[in-house]
Amino acid sequence: MNENLRADRRTYVTHLECSMTGERFEADRLQGLSRVGRPLLVRYDLDAIRACVSRELIETRPTDMWRWREMLPVRRTESIVSLGEIETPLVLIPRSGGTNVLIKDEGRLPTGSFKARGLVMAVSMARELGVERIGMPTNGNAGAALAAYASRCGIETVILCPEETPEVNVREIAAQGARVWRVNGQIDDCGAIIGRGAAEGRWFDFSTLKEPYRIEGKKTMGFELAAQLGWELPDAIFYPTGGGTGLIGMWKAFDEMEALGWIGSKRPRMYAVQASGCAPIVRAFEAGKEHAERWEDPATVAAGIRVPRAVGDFLILRAVRESGGRAMAVGDPAILKAVDAAARKDGLLLCPEGGATLAAYHAAVREGFVEPYEKVVLFNCATGLKYQMPPTTNVLDRHGEIDLSVL
Ligand SMILES: Cc1ncc(COP(=O)(O)O)c(C=O)c1O
Repeated sequence: MNENLRADRRTYVTHLECSMTGERFEADRLQGLSRVGRPLLVRYDLDAIRACVSRELIETRPTDMWRWREMLPVRRTESIVSLGEIETPLVLIPRSGGTNVLIKDEGRLPTGSFKARGLVMAVSMARELGVERIGMPTNGNAGAALAAYASRCGIETVILCPEETPEVNVREIAAQGARVWRVNGQIDDCGAIIGRGAAEGRWFDFSTLKEPYRIEGKKTMGFELAAQLGWELPDAIFYPTGGGTGLIGMWKAFDEMEALGWIGSKRPRMYAVQASGCAPIVRAFEAGKEHAERWEDPATVAAGIRVPRAVGDFLILRAVRESGGRAMAVGDPAILKAVDAAARKDGLLLCPEGGATLAAYHAAVREGFVEPYEKVVLFNCATGLKYQMPPTTNVLDRHGEIDLSVL
């Protein structure tokens, strides 16, 4: 265990705040949505942090996620249920992307996806606040991360997945000790069942943005990016957007870092990437709306972004618009082509959602939203190893005649 997980560091949470109305809620107690049914955001005494935590101090610490401890909500070090949340690398993909295109490869995290960031935080807080049972709807990776962290600290989990969830996800959830069911519906249909159980007091509802701490875990992607790029944010970020926790979290991290004096006011343009078969945020963006309507009959190979309705829709749209970015949709053929290109040309196996960001980047360059000389970060949110790959059928009979010239 490194020093970040041994040291007792001061924490600075002051309260929680409704993201819609600004109403204050008490920290250090179990909270779900605000009174008006919107996500709660964690607020800190940033002036006090500024007085005692500098970029230089952060740079002396091991680089894992817990180096940001003063800007995170967990009060007691022993509450942290770590599985080794490393800083993820920025990998250049010069041949399939371009010389200024970096992939933030989140597939290196525990459970093979960036869901580990949000769930390690939310589960650690649930443990700190005495939760014994958690319910969650998931398209796969979030459920896997929840199962792992909750089992590790003895919290029971009930997890519901849409029936189209990748098989590997359902199995890894079960293998990591959760009670998991496939449901003949979409993630919001699963969420409705979880909500009913939560209302009856059977479990605590861990749906995306319905508890305040997953965003705090995801915001470390924003801190990390800044530190990795010499405290200079990139020109553009492409983020595969389902519930949008990571995009909202990074946007929050940028504001917090500016208040701490760590970065200036320059922000990346944020591109929320969706699949053409499920693009509620894109439709709302294009119509100039603040909220997105449910997308009926969603269909895409990128299961993680098959989210017909997002409770934080207005937060995603606000961040995208304030940043000068866009919401963009890409089709499944372009997604699969991008996955193939990154693997063949740059040796990096992306998940389909990561492929979507690469496809959207190329579309953005084609359409003139992004210039090829601009520094761009694309998020690959899970390891490509979890997903189906095209079959290979070649076999060799070692006892027969082998024509080496055709190998
Ligand atoms: C691989 C992958 N990418 C992207 C997403 C979307 O993440 P968010 O809910 O933060 O928009 C998910 C969510 O399940 C995912 O598993």
